[in-house]
This record gives sequence, structure tokens and C-alpha cells, in this order.
Amino acid sequence: MNTTPIQPEIVQQKIIDSGLTSIGKASIREIKKLVDMIEQASGEKFIRMEMGIPGLPPAKIGVAGQIEALQKGVAALYPDIHGIAVLKNEISRFVKLFMNIDVNPEGCIPTVGSMQGGFASFLMLGRIFKERDTTLFIDPGFPVHKQQHKVLNIKYESFDVYNYRGDKLREKLESYFKKGHIHSVLYSNPNNPSWICFTEKELQIIGELANKYNIVIMEDLAYFGMDFRNDYSKPGQAPYQPSVANYTDKYILFISSSKAFSYAGERIGMMVIANNLFQSQFPDLKRFYPNDKFGYNMIFGTLYPLSSGTSHSAQYALTAILKAANDGEFNFVDEVKEYGEKAHIMKKLFTENGFKIVYDMDEDKPIADGFYFTYSYPGFTGVELLEKMIYYGISAISLDITGSDRHEGIRACTSLIQRDQFGTLEKRLKQFNEDHPITNK
Ligand SMILES: Cc1ncc(COP(=O)(O)O)c(C=O)c1O
Repeated sequence: MNTTPIQPEIVQQKIIDSGLTSIGKASIREIKKLVDMIEQASGEKFIRMEMGIPGLPPAKIGVAGQIEALQKGVAALYPDIHGIAVLKNEISRFVKLFMNIDVNPEGCIPTVGSMQGGFASFLMLGRIFKERDTTLFIDPGFPVHKQQHKVLNIKYESFDVYNYRGDKLREKLESYFKKGHIHSVLYSNPNNPSWICFTEKELQIIGELANKYNIVIMEDLAYFGMDFRNDYSKPGQAPYQPSVANYTDKYILFISSSKAFSYAGERIGMMVIANNLFQSQFPDLKRFYPNDKFGYNMIFGTLYPLSSGTSHSAQYALTAILKAANDGEFNFVDEVKEYGEKAHIMKKLFTENGFKIVYDMDEDKPIADGFYFTYSYPGFTGVELLEKMIYYGISAISLDITGSDRHEGIRACTSLIQRDQFGTLEKRLKQFNEDHPITNK
């Protein structure tokens, strides 16, 4: 075997220093820290695919809007908890123009990242029915949502959707819903980590069952418009970003500004509550809140004690971004297409060197190229492979921490890798392949 691209002694020492017992099971931030340390000690740059951070500059129009608001003095003023009126109107326009759904501005609420929208929703949904105590995750998923459940002490169950695509999803979901303990469901679409996208049929199944069993669906659209197989970039024109909102009126959408608008640093996202759910009354809420109204208590009973609203200037930034997108002056999808193009090249480099794409199909269609993809290598579990590849200067996360049943898999994020690193990636993958010959069993 050749010497690996990163000196093994350095990797071994830094793994010991990190105190991590299993690299493959470490959280995203722990892996980031370890790789930072190895890069520093070895002087070698990694192909960094562990963290889902935007690799693009922030939407300029947002920065300009935010600076203008700061210069006008908004930093001195508490923002309204439910969001500034101009932003609420633009969010409502945005979901009409890019999703073709009608939501009143009152249900369009800025949050401190979509992360906070999730936290606030979990907190409330666990309390709407006293006899129901469990969230159902359609996995694989974003590990922090489970961490939020743990700190809130809310129960959750989950299943990997890989084997339950299409019609099979109905029976699988009903097997949980029938028991009567599920209050809500969460999934991301496009999916982090696998980049699968639900088909229209699957969204319809989810919506119909939400109606039948009176369950709230949380649809996490952190990667809004980023299924590049279809052009969702034209306001007011089909095709629209697919959504369960077309099939039920019991939904909460989380729309992040972090990836679609490269605005992760300002921690602003959108929570969009269906008109019907916003107006709904749940008598069991009175155990924790002054009345039984869902929308009212989301704002004054939940977001208020969490953070008293969202950064005032960031709300103006988002207003400017959305207004430009809604008016057809800012094509935010075009700005992020680069992720899909890089994914296409990277997937080719991996598969040419013996790797396999783990989640590869949406029912009968190959998945899109986008922000993430998943891979495996014959003879390794994901946890083993992740650790092995550190010696080759390639970092990612294992699917084990995402609720996936595909224990051989790894998630790669395409955002941080630069095109001029593709040569290095190819060389390292080639060497890995030579050092670990695949025996056809
Ligand atoms: C599926 C998913 N949901 C939510 C988030 C968090 O979004 P935000 O930065 O808006 O809090 C992310 C970020 O990586 C994500 O991948």
C-alpha cells in the first residue's frame, strides 16, 4: 500500500487528541473540529464535505437591504414578535408565486433560522393533544432535529423511507398513525442527507393521511427550489416547488434562507403556518397557554419566550431578497445551481473509482444532483469508511447519525469544494481504490 495523502501518524495523534471514541459516529461539528486540527498539523488541505454550509456569497440584495435598515436605526428597536409587516406580506407572496399556495400574512412568521421554527413547532405540537406524545420522522434526516427533541424531552419515532417509496408509503405511515400516539410528522424535501425528493404521489399520500388522522405535517424546505431537474425559478409560473400543502391544510412549512439565499450567518428563516392550522383551536393547549388558539400561542406563547422575535435588520434583508425574487428581478435558483453542477462531476469521480451512490432513485427516476449525495464502498460500513477516508484527506459524515438504515453510507456535501480541487479529489479517490481493491464476491 502507498503512503496515504495525509501522514497516518498525524491523523492517529489528532484522533487521540480529539477524545472521540468513534469518528464515524461523531457529530458534524466534531468532525469539522478534528479535520481543522489535522489540516493545521499536516499542512494538507482536505476535500471538506462534512458541513452543509453555503459555499457561495450571500445574496447581495439582502446585504444592501440589511445595511440600509441598520443605518436607519432599526438595531435600537425590538422587532414585532410575529415579524415586520412588509416581510410577512413578501413571504405570503413568495409562497403564492413559487408554490402556488395561499397563506395569509398572519401565518408567515420569521424565525431565528428555520432551526428555531422547528424548535418552536416541536414544543407546541407535543402539547396539542394530551393523549398523543410522539413525533414521527420520515428519515433519513437532519440530526439536530432529533437533538431538539431530546432537549425538549419529546418522544419521536422514525423510519428510513428508502424501502417505502411510492404506494408503500401509505401502509407504512398508517401503521404508525393507527396507534393514535403521533401528533406530527417531519421530513425535509429535497432531503438532507440523501437528496431524494418525494414524488407528487407520495406528497398526496402524506397529505391524505394527515387529513384522515388529524396529524400536522412539518415540511422542511431548507433546500427550496433546489431539485434542479425542474425549473422552479419563475414566479407565478408552473412548475412550482412541490409540497404537501397541495393536499392538506394541516401543515407548517420551514423555509430556510441559509442555502437558497446563502444567508446562513444572519440566522433568519420562515415558518409558514396553513391558514386552517393557524386558526385551529386545541383545548389541550390550555394546559400550557392562556387560550387554545394555535397561531396566537405560537407567536405570543412560544416565540416570545424563546427569542422575542427575529433580528430586526435581518428581517429587512429577507424582505429585500423576497421582494426581488417575487418581482422576477432575482433568480435565486440560478445562483445556487452551481451545487448541482458540482454534484454531477463529483458523483462521476466517485463512481468511476469503485464507489456507489446509496440513495439513487426517486421511485423510477434517478435522483437530482444537488447540495448532498450519499456514497458507499464495497466491504466497508459507513463508520469505517469515513475514518479510512480521513487518511486520504476526504471528510464527510456517516449516514448512521441521520436515522438511515443504510449503514454502509456516507453523506457528502458539495458546497465547500471548489472546482480547482476536483483534480486532487480524483487523485485521492483513485489511490483509495488502488489501495482497497474490490473483490467481486
Ligand atoms: C434539513 C435542514 N433543516 C434545517 C436546517 C437549518 O436551517 P437554518 O440555517 O435556517 O436554521 C438545515 C441546515 O443545514 C437543514 O439541512
